[in-house]
Amino acid sequence: MHRFSLVFVFFVMSISVGAQGKIPADAIRQKMQWFSEAKLGIFIHWGIYAVKGVDESWGFYNGKISWEDYMAQLQGFTASKYDPEAWASLIRESGAKYAVVTTKHHDGVALWDTKQKHYDVVDNSPAKRDLLTPLFAALRKRDVRVGAYFSLIDWSHPDYPQFLKGTDRYKASQDPARWKRFLDFYQAQIRELSVRFNPDLWWFDGDWEHSAEEWQAAGVRRMILERNPAAIINGRLQGYGDYATPEQNFPVTRPPEDWWELCMTINNNWGYQPSDTNWKTPYEVITIFADAISNGGNLLLDIGPKEDGTIPEPQVHVLQELGAWNKKHEEAVFGANAGLPQGHFYGPTTLSSDSTDLYLFLPGKVSGQIMLKGLLNAIESVTVVGTDQALTHKVVGKISWSPVPGIVYIPVPESVQDKYMSVLKLRLKGPLRLYRGKGGL
Ligand code: GLC
Repeated sequence: MHRFSLVFVFFVMSISVGAQGKIPADAIRQKMQWFSEAKLGIFIHWGIYAVKGVDESWGFYNGKISWEDYMAQLQGFTASKYDPEAWASLIRESGAKYAVVTTKHHDGVALWDTKQKHYDVVDNSPAKRDLLTPLFAALRKRDVRVGAYFSLIDWSHPDYPQFLKGTDRYKASQDPARWKRFLDFYQAQIRELSVRFNPDLWWFDGDWEHSAEEWQAAGVRRMILERNPAAIINGRLQGYGDYATPEQNFPVTRPPEDWWELCMTINNNWGYQPSDTNWKTPYEVITIFADAISNGGNLLLDIGPKEDGTIPEPQVHVLQELGAWNKKHEEAVFGANAGLPQGHFYGPTTLSSDSTDLYLFLPGKVSGQIMLKGLLNAIESVTVVGTDQALTHKVVGKISWSPVPGIVYIPVPESVQDKYMSVLKLRLKGPLRLYRGKGGL
């Protein structure tokens, strides 16, 4: 979707959620509970594109490589060092509560032994085995929920209308019988995934090439929920999903959706590309993550393993550093909800569910006095999360006859700084109360 404009992203965010049919709102809330508490997921883009290190599927679609040369990568996809237990441990170590793996990308190559007549790595590559079963088992063993990325688009399928950019095979509306064959095929694959793996979450992609009616999106949603009423569906099913998925583009104002998830690459690409060394640093990933949760969202951070199944070292490093930081700051990250509306504090914030603990995240190695505006509560204590350090605070400019609260200043000594980002915990007297006015005006 990175080829579409920002406008499109906002469009997706504003319309792709909410087509819940007749399911009552509290039932949706209940099923979304684990997702809102999860905060962090790891996205895995693994496929034959890792062999030559080309753009996943888009490589041939955009004519950077011929379809034949692209598919020839099947011969080089070995999964020879694939260690699903090690993947799952690393994911668990990162602090992620769910993982979403590409069961099939737009190139049509399935990572499991699909019974449908089409490409899969079991029959068509030297990997010769179903790669999903052991991964899902390893993740579940570690209490990490499993998500299935599934591309609705299948540019390699002879009955799929679109093929290479500008060269469609046919138009769905002009050959309903052929389109119907494709619908039966792709829905049978979804049924297979559903029956065999029962994913906790479905991460559809590529819905933009057809309408909800053409995809039979309502029926797909129904089929999934019949098998598992608690399954969560992302917002790329033409209006039949549960949550929004802004991609690579960081919200500035807080998205109005109840649930959203920012999916983001760890360098510039989803799949493994040896030439792409533009790694985001642990600090960057941690601050982006904090910003997302501060605004009520999740982060789905992508890794792109090599064809042999090894995870490139810089990706391992980021996940481990993120994990160590998450561990230290667990209560502020996983035990908390979205924080203050913008304007009170210059940084991300979160709140305990009873809103008596306010967490202030301090990006950029802050030292000296930080400032917090509009807090009506008295502060009982200030501590540095993950340490036993207590800090003092001072209220400045409180006018006795005015309802406007003073400004809280907290001196942060350099000695308490975290390697990446310190977090302060303010224990409030009573649940959070804010002043949101314009001062004396
Ligand atoms: C886009 C791309 C796809 C990628 C996905 C991840 O939709 O088409 O290549 O897998 O984003 O969010």
